[in-house]
Amino acid sequence: MAFTYFFRDIQTLELACDHALPVLKTRRYINIWDAGCAMGPEAYTLAILLRERMGHMYFRNVRITATDIDESNLFGKIISEGVYPREQVERIPRDLFDIYFEKADKDGFYRIIEEIRRALTFHRHDLLTLQSPGNDYGLIVCKNVLLHFNEEQRIKVIQMFYDSLMEGGFLVFEQTQTLPQSVSHLFTPVVSNAQLFQKTA
Ligand SMILES: C[S@@+](CC[C@H](N)C(=O)[O-])C[C@H]1O[C@@H](n2cnc3c(N)ncnc32)[C@H](O)[C@@H]1O
Repeated sequence: MAFTYFFRDIQTLELACDHALPVLKTRRYINIWDAGCAMGPEAYTLAILLRERMGHMYFRNVRITATDIDESNLFGKIISEGVYPREQVERIPRDLFDIYFEKADKDGFYRIIEEIRRALTFHRHDLLTLQSPGNDYGLIVCKNVLLHFNEEQRIKVIQMFYDSLMEGGFLVFEQTQTLPQSVSHLFTPVVSNAQLFQKTA
């Protein structure tokens, strides 16, 4: 159930960054929620994409809250250490890998550099409590999670996302997760080739 990998569906994450950044860059802090982050590759991918686009100075204002129900109770440690085995980092483009990873103490393991790790905080969180871990998010990423819920649960969770977003904030799902009809008035589709939406005023 926690299947994930670095640079998964990178086109969608790049589109989210491309459209959200011009809106969010004017704010003091860029608050992002990665809901259902598994053991961290998606949130770290997003952080790397943002760092590439923003440079060191602006990237310091990025705060990514990564949450998961984390039934194994292991994700917090993995994410805070940012250490992954070779087979999990092999898909990362070589130029980015060389910049953002270093050898870890353990043979065959690599650690994400501190600048990127610092941008992420992990919390155990069950989306179905419908209690948001924060508010004023500029971007919420929820990929490959809602498919595990029934239609009523999906609608309630999406309403919670709406309430947790800042005005004009963005929400992104995986390619196959469409917006249910009953909440479609809350968001405007941003592009035709990804499930990327902007909060309607
Ligand atoms: C397939 S993984 C997706 C990981 C990542 N978002 C991606 O797309 O690569 C689904 C994740 O959803 C989490 N999840 C399932 N039910 C959840 C819930 N009620 N609240 C929070 N996370 C949940 C699982 O623990 C798992 O890590």
